[in-house]
Amino acid sequence: MKVDVLLGLQWGDEGKGKVVDVLTPGYDIVTRFQGGPNAGHTLEFEGQKYVLRSIPSGIFQGGKTNIIGNGVVLDPILFRQEAESLAASGHDLTKQLCISKKAHLIMPTHRVLDAAYEAAKGAAKIGTTGKGIGPTYTDKVSRNGLRVGDILHHFDEKYAQAKKKHEIILSGLKYEYDIVALEKEWFEALEYLKRFRLIDSEHVLNNFLKEGKSVLAEGAQGTMLDVDFGSYPFVTSSNTVCAGACTGLGIAPRNIGEVYGIFKAYCTRVGAGPFPTELFDETGEKLCKLGHEFGAVTGRKRRCGWIDLVALKYAVMINGVSQLIMMKSDVLDDFDTIKACVAYKINGQETEEFPFDISEGVEPVYIEMPGWKTDMTRMTSEDEFPEEFNAYVNFLEEELGVPVKIVSVGPDREQTIIRYED
Ligand code: GDP
Ligand code: IMO
Ligand code: MG
Repeated sequence: MKVDVLLGLQWGDEGKGKVVDVLTPGYDIVTRFQGGPNAGHTLEFEGQKYVLRSIPSGIFQGGKTNIIGNGVVLDPILFRQEAESLAASGHDLTKQLCISKKAHLIMPTHRVLDAAYEAAKGAAKIGTTGKGIGPTYTDKVSRNGLRVGDILHHFDEKYAQAKKKHEIILSGLKYEYDIVALEKEWFEALEYLKRFRLIDSEHVLNNFLKEGKSVLAEGAQGTMLDVDFGSYPFVTSSNTVCAGACTGLGIAPRNIGEVYGIFKAYCTRVGAGPFPTELFDETGEKLCKLGHEFGAVTGRKRRCGWIDLVALKYAVMINGVSQLIMMKSDVLDDFDTIKACVAYKINGQETEEFPFDISEGVEPVYIEMPGWKTDMTRMTSEDEFPEEFNAYVNFLEEELGVPVKIVSVGPDREQTIIRYED
C-alpha cells in the first residue's frame, strides 16, 4: 500500500482537521509529518468541537493508530495539555498514539527566542504563532536540536548545552525573560510523554505498508506557508508540501499515493505577509463574519479575500495534487456574485505563473460569476447542488486540471459531500 497525503493549498486553516477525520475510516493509520502546535485543526461531530494542535486528526475514529512523525516539532507542555483535555473528555490516547523518537522538542527557550526574534524584526515581524516553531527547526538544521528519543539517555547534559546556546543569543538581543516556572512544567511534561510509545516511526510506517496497511498523512499549515515555495519570508519553518511527507515520515517518493489538495472556496491568511486577493471592504468583512474566520489557536482575526487561482495552480503543481477538496462552500451561499482571481497583472503585464515575489505591485485579475443564493448547509448529495454552484466547481476543475472530489458545506463531520466514488 501507499501513503495518501492530505495537505493545505492556501495559507493554512483550509479545514484539514475536519476532512482527515472524515477520511480516517478508510485508513489504518493517520500520521502528522511536519509543523507543531502552530497548527490548530478543528473537528466537529455529535455537537462537540475539538481543536488539535500536535495530535493527528484521526484519533476520534475507532481506535486507529495515530503517529506523530519525525518531521514534527513537539512542545511537551502543549502536548500534555492537549492529551489531558482529550482524556478528560473520554479519549485516552496512550494506546492509540505513538511518537517518533526523531521528532524535535520545542524547549521553553525556543518560545522565548521566537518572541525575541519577532521583537527584533519590529514592523517587519512575521506574526508567528509564538510557539517556538522557527527556533526549533533552526536548531534542527544547525544540529543543535533535542529529539524526543534523547529524553531516554543523558538528557540533562544535552538540555543544559542547548539552553546555554539560547541564553547567549538572548543576552545578545538584550531580551528579558523568566522561564523558571515554565521549565519546571516542561520537565514534568517530559515525564508524561514517556507514557506514550516512543517509536522509530520510519520503520513502523514502512512495515505497516509492507503488511498492506493504508496510511493517511495529515499536513499542517499550507503550501503558501512552505519555507521553500511559500511567500517567503512570511512563511513557517517547515516543508508543508507533499515532499515534506517523505522527509517527515521516512517514506520513499514512490510510496506516495493520492495527494488530496484542500482549499477554501475563497481564501484567508492569518499573520503578516502578502495576500494579493485580500479584501479590505465590506465583502471581506462579510467573508470573515460568515466564515467565523478567527484563528483556532491564537484567536487572531483571519484576513479574507477571493480565491486565488494563480497561487492554487502553483500549489497543485508543486504537490502533484490528484484530488481536490473544496471547503466552506456554504460561506459563499449569500453572495450575488463571486469573484476568482485568474491572473496577476505585474508592471502592466498579465501572468498566470506564480512569481518570485508577490509582496508589491501585484494586481489580481478577476472573473466574476453569479452566486447561488441558496443555503447549502443541509445538502447531502451533489444532486441537490444549485446550477451556479456546479458552474463554479466546474470552472475551478477546468482551471486547476484536477477533479474536486469532496465538497464541504459546514463544519460538522456530516456536512461533507463526496462528489463521486473511486
Ligand atoms: P485546519 O487548520 O486546516 O484544520 O482548519 P481550521 O480548523 O484552523 O479552520 C477551519 C475552520 O472552518 C474550523 O473552524 C472548522 O470548524 C470550519 N469549517 C471546516 N469546514 C467547514 C465548512 O465547510 N463550512 C464552514 N462554515 N466551516 C467549516
Ligand atoms: P494550520 O495547520 C494558518 C502562520 C502564522 C505566521 C506564519 C509563521 O492550522 O493550518 P509560525 O508560528 O509557524 O512560525 O508562524 O505561519 N501559521 C499558520 N497560519 N494556519 C496554520 O496552521 C498556521 N501555522 C502557522 O500565522 O504567519
Ligand atoms: Mg488551523
